[in-house]
Amino acid sequence: MDARAKAGVSIRSASKRYGPLIALDDVSIDVAQGEFLSLLGPSGSGKTTLLGILGGFVQPSSGSVWVGERDITFAPPHKRDIGMVFQSYALFPHMTVGENVAFPLRARRQPKASWSGKVADALAMVELRGYEHRRISELSGGQRQRVALARAMVFEPQLILMDEPLSALDKQLRETMQIELRRLHRRLGTTIVYVTHDQREALTMSDRVAVLKDGRLVQVDTPEHLYDRPRNSFVASFIGEATLLPVARAGENAVKLGDTVLRTAYPLPREDRLLLAVQTEKLVIDAGDAPGDANRLSARVTEVLYQGESLRVFAALADGTVVSLRQPGNHAARQRIPLPGAPLSVALSPRDTIVVAA
Ligand SMILES: Nc1ncnc2c1ncn2[C@@H]1O[C@H](COP(=O)(O)OP(=O)(O)O)[C@@H](O)[C@H]1O
Ligand SMILES: [Mg+2]
Repeated sequence: MDARAKAGVSIRSASKRYGPLIALDDVSIDVAQGEFLSLLGPSGSGKTTLLGILGGFVQPSSGSVWVGERDITFAPPHKRDIGMVFQSYALFPHMTVGENVAFPLRARRQPKASWSGKVADALAMVELRGYEHRRISELSGGQRQRVALARAMVFEPQLILMDEPLSALDKQLRETMQIELRRLHRRLGTTIVYVTHDQREALTMSDRVAVLKDGRLVQVDTPEHLYDRPRNSFVASFIGEATLLPVARAGENAVKLGDTVLRTAYPLPREDRLLLAVQTEKLVIDAGDAPGDANRLSARVTEVLYQGESLRVFAALADGTVVSLRQPGNHAARQRIPLPGAPLSVALSPRDTIVVAA
């Protein structure tokens, strides 16, 4: 690869206003060369706007976009060396697979003699070798999405932008494609910025995840960090399956949930109002085998939901507060679950005891 292809992408203090609406509010992110970064947030949080600013489809009201040392804020999309994949595949239905994939080569006026080799390579990458002459209408949804991906990669852009590319696919195919895309990224090393509103998808695929809310960047972090050290209650509730419970400060590394003192491995936030964020799978049923330093809570089972691969158990603490935990669906784990109404002791490791500002 040449030096140009090794550049990262930066967005600096970018804002976008539509009249009185602030769609994006002073967002800065550095995407490292070769990184897979996801933009995660609820609908309307500014993900597509941010992607559009990177791609050149949206002009920022203020701020700038850089590829390495080059300011591309005002460069048109076709001069940015960026491949795009959208939710709706945006393939040309009247063209063959090969013509679709060759389209960016034509648009970039690359020598025609090079097209067929590049198209064949791009199709091979997405495991559609030999599909050049198929019609788009003959392909399944997953195959169409792969053609769209091949088309985005065929000119070897330094950056690929994807806006919810898998959201039109059914769950099983979506999960397969997530794993394939992740592997493809590892193999190619292209920088990818990927928009999704699905936290599980973001955690599965990304090197880092940027969480957006109301046009603001809330936290940019690795999946593990986002999950273990959410910056605030929004991130904690958006990532995973957390119950948020009001707690009171009880020393430097401890909080009180009702009458029970819970120790945490982390410094507490400075804010006055604190919430304990308990992910369902971090609470474990204590059959006398929990580690000595674990926090313990006494509860009573209120409901058990069978959900296939796992079970969700709801349990009420002494003051009536309900927590929920997950147990694997195997028989040994299921036998630990008391019947509804029976007492239950649950353990929570200090490293899983996450306290965030309310
Ligand atoms: N062209 C536009 N004109 C006016 N408002 C827009 C336009 N594009 C987006 N918005 C608004 O900007 C906010 C962010 O939108 P968007 O970036 O599409 O969010 P997301 O992709 O996270 O769902 C939303 O409130 C949306 O309605
Ligand atoms: Mg969007």
